[in-house]
Amino acid sequence: MTFSKPLRSNAWFAGSTEVALMHRVALANSGITVDPAHPRPIIGILDSSSAINPCNLTLRARGEDAARGVREAGGIALILPTITLGEDLMKPTAMLYRALLSIEVEEYARAYPLDGLIILGNCDKSLPGALLGALSANLPTIIVNGGPRPAGRFRGADLGTGTALWRATQQQRAGTLDAEGWAGFERALACGPGSCNTMGTASSMAIVLEALGFLLPGSSTPAADDPRRPGQAEAAGRAAVRAVWEERTPDHYLTREGLNLALTTLAALGGSTNVALHLAALAGRRALDWEPEALDEASRGTPVLADVEPGGRYLLAEFDAAGGVPALLHTLGDLIDPTLPSADGLPWSAHLRPADGPAIAPREAPVLAGGAFAVLRGNLAPRGALLRVSTAGSDLLDHRGPAVVFRDYATMVARCADPEFDPGEDAVLVLAGAGPVGAGMPEWGVIPIPVTLARRGVTDMVRLSDARMSGTAFGTCVVHIAPEAAIGGPLGLLLDGDMIHLDVAQRSLSVDLGEAELARRAAAWRPASAPDLRGWPLLHSTHVLQADRGADLDFLTAPTPEHTSFREPVIGLS
Ligand code: FES
Repeated sequence: MTFSKPLRSNAWFAGSTEVALMHRVALANSGITVDPAHPRPIIGILDSSSAINPCNLTLRARGEDAARGVREAGGIALILPTITLGEDLMKPTAMLYRALLSIEVEEYARAYPLDGLIILGNCDKSLPGALLGALSANLPTIIVNGGPRPAGRFRGADLGTGTALWRATQQQRAGTLDAEGWAGFERALACGPGSCNTMGTASSMAIVLEALGFLLPGSSTPAADDPRRPGQAEAAGRAAVRAVWEERTPDHYLTREGLNLALTTLAALGGSTNVALHLAALAGRRALDWEPEALDEASRGTPVLADVEPGGRYLLAEFDAAGGVPALLHTLGDLIDPTLPSADGLPWSAHLRPADGPAIAPREAPVLAGGAFAVLRGNLAPRGALLRVSTAGSDLLDHRGPAVVFRDYATMVARCADPEFDPGEDAVLVLAGAGPVGAGMPEWGVIPIPVTLARRGVTDMVRLSDARMSGTAFGTCVVHIAPEAAIGGPLGLLLDGDMIHLDVAQRSLSVDLGEAELARRAAAWRPASAPDLRGWPLLHSTHVLQADRGADLDFLTAPTPEHTSFREPVIGLS
């Protein structure tokens, strides 16, 4: 193999100084021989597997598979443990730690003699968190995800996680699922390691990143226990070594055109709103222009083709059986650019194949003709807000109603469970103070339907928040409202009874208040008393950006292309 420049790791190992000798001995003590005369790419395999995060648990085995592939291709594989970001158990939200994982990956890449990276991730923030760091480091990177868990069965039907939990919770609140059913549902829901098997954030993100060229074609959607998985991880190991020799760094993939492909893919999935946030952050790391409306524009011209829960009928297993990403992109036809590179370096045109199964709808009979996402502006959202139209109630897309405002999560939960609380079904439920600064931006945006209304059969209401929502959820939930309440955004100025108007056709979210009244309230506004933060939460809240910037940290973004350069460490005595 010929190459145009020395491997990055050679800076550590080449030469006869005591420093180079010390570095060679360090790896020799781990049983690894480095010969600078015959350099081999060193691939860091970033392993986030952990029993505390069952979504990522199968990645432990995939790491060994990928390492085998690296060695087969002549590289050196080093497995590097990272923090694990699991949605279910990590509080207040794994989103608070996305940037921490990105810093970990970037600094692993900077401080150690690595030539390329393999990211092992699955649960929602695992892939964007690690990829943000890899983008800043700009070392050749391949992602191996873990895949969705198998479906459980409950009362004769497959369970799509976590969509089934959202549905069961609604039924329990409405009184149509009794205690015995609730207990049976719990037993059925534990169906093994892997990610949510619906079009939640983990699946949406993995599919979009496959389209963008970070996962090998066809590898994002097989189930966690699919026998193809070990071979695909092994192939990813070989591909990572090739990417190093061919100098295919992440900026080769994350281009303006690549972002357009990612947005079109997300629109065709009717995927998770969280992906919009992650793409904004990724764009920010490479100084690419980003406006929230980019997703709206991509959605207008793109039919929803993935017939997968929560917006469709099937689970990820059927989407994979229909051909996965190569079939989805093939079906999109002239809406995508097939010359864009896939993760193996070949253009996508080399991998496209027709869909074969009902979970990928044909262009002429889509799940939805277009417009899966709407980006809203107005005096309630000067810097934007996002609604997944494809899982919202069609009768609520032009809605006017009085605000009922909750200023913290505990109050929201308590009042919505109060059998005396009856705001009326036209009310617009508002949660303020749950944005990036206020609370780390958890998935609190699916405000529960108050039990009084649930028992009367109400299943959806207009809900507004500066929080996020789970990709597996559904409902008319406007999320990512910016600027957020905690920094003085208009959401925090609302009072009970203010008339809210959501008009999706006009892309408008407004309150019937004049400028003078809003200005009067803004002048009187005082931030909530600062919580007693220390350590990472303090650093995060001090530096986190708003949703329109992907809620990344200001010191991690690249305001100009010059800021994307990666400063190498001094290679000397440690
Ligand atoms: Fe981990 Fe859904 S909770 S992928």
